[in-house]
Amino acid sequence: MKIAGFSIFVETSHFKPKLIVVDIKPKITPIYQTSVFNFEDLNELELYFEQPGQSYMYTRYGNPNSDELAQEVNKLEQGAGAVVTSSGMSAILAAILGFCKAGDHILCAEEVYGGSSALIRQELTRMGIEVSFLPASDTYSLHEYVQPNTRMMLAETISNPLVQVLDVRRLAQETKKQGIKLIVDNTFASPILTKPLLLGADIVVHSVTKYLSGHSDVTAGVVICEEAEDAQRVLKVMMTYGLNLSPFDSWLAVRGLKTIWIRMRQHCSNALTIAAYLQGHPKVEQVWYPGLEQHPQHELAKEQGEGLFGGMLSFRLKDDTEEAVNKFMRALEHIPFAPSLAGVNTSISHPLRTSHRSLSSEQQQNMGITIGVIRLSVGIEEPEELIAELEAALDNIN
Ligand SMILES: Cc1ncc(COP(=O)(O)O)c(C=O)c1O
Repeated sequence: MKIAGFSIFVETSHFKPKLIVVDIKPKITPIYQTSVFNFEDLNELELYFEQPGQSYMYTRYGNPNSDELAQEVNKLEQGAGAVVTSSGMSAILAAILGFCKAGDHILCAEEVYGGSSALIRQELTRMGIEVSFLPASDTYSLHEYVQPNTRMMLAETISNPLVQVLDVRRLAQETKKQGIKLIVDNTFASPILTKPLLLGADIVVHSVTKYLSGHSDVTAGVVICEEAEDAQRVLKVMMTYGLNLSPFDSWLAVRGLKTIWIRMRQHCSNALTIAAYLQGHPKVEQVWYPGLEQHPQHELAKEQGEGLFGGMLSFRLKDDTEEAVNKFMRALEHIPFAPSLAGVNTSISHPLRTSHRSLSSEQQQNMGITIGVIRLSVGIEEPEELIAELEAALDNIN
């Protein structure tokens, strides 16, 4: 929808403000901070229903700011339609509920964000949706897990927290063979690195909270579909369940999105520098970063990420203890321990105690997430400053 002109409300009475449209052309879309839109009469209301996408009625069903965000992300991911939601979690929920009902079965890669895993394992199973989790070694052998009622598979382009890289094209070939949909959570990679729909995925989801908005000031999500019909289905779920995003958060996310190209390049370049530095540090046991040649999917990551490897890395301290982690965290002066990621400022997180705490200790152990694993979300600061700060914090532990 083209948003031109500007509407000014003049109060003619307390109950019915009069709308005057004047030809003001703001460069930036104004914030349509309204829960509802006025209609002149029944004819205008009928036009809303007859010509979808031409006007607005109620912000839960659609708002110019969330539509602008959906269109911009849809362009980046090269989809046929996108739906903006209130969070990454509600995006995943809408994408699943759009196509699954009680009695259906879904597949999920074992190494996904802990919240996604909890949503499926703890909540969707209560609604009668069955799930099978695939260990990383079986990601592409899904035929062994598919049942007659299997509808879809969820996996992440770059996994959280150990940044394993998914061969999206290969997995899409398998899901197509099995006649099920592939949903890819592209939060860690961002469309600047990888566009899963172009590699055969059916649906892409994002926590817009992360790289798409980029400044740690928005909680939002988005679902992008390969088929316009699927986007309509997800839209219906978003509207009916009330999973919409507020106009202000949509506006903030659109603003953040404008710089994603330049931000991602700096995130990636800094992360590569820091991964190499940590790898050579005597107090670091292991570093996970796809840009390192030793990473098991380095070649795939290079090809699928257009030569960029992302801004996220994890490392394990040699002293794999709670005490060492606490000493390290406290010694960081400017890098906060903040359990999120992908903002312009560097932060660290602790997967065992935050994103993956709801997993059983056996699952945590299988994934290699021990107490000494620290996840670093590398920001866009000067890399020398970051290294100096990490160096000082590592000096502070045994
Ligand atoms: C990969 C991934 N997907 C989804 C989510 C959920 O997003 P949100 O916190 O915006 O609901 C997260 C949150 O960290 C995430 O890391």
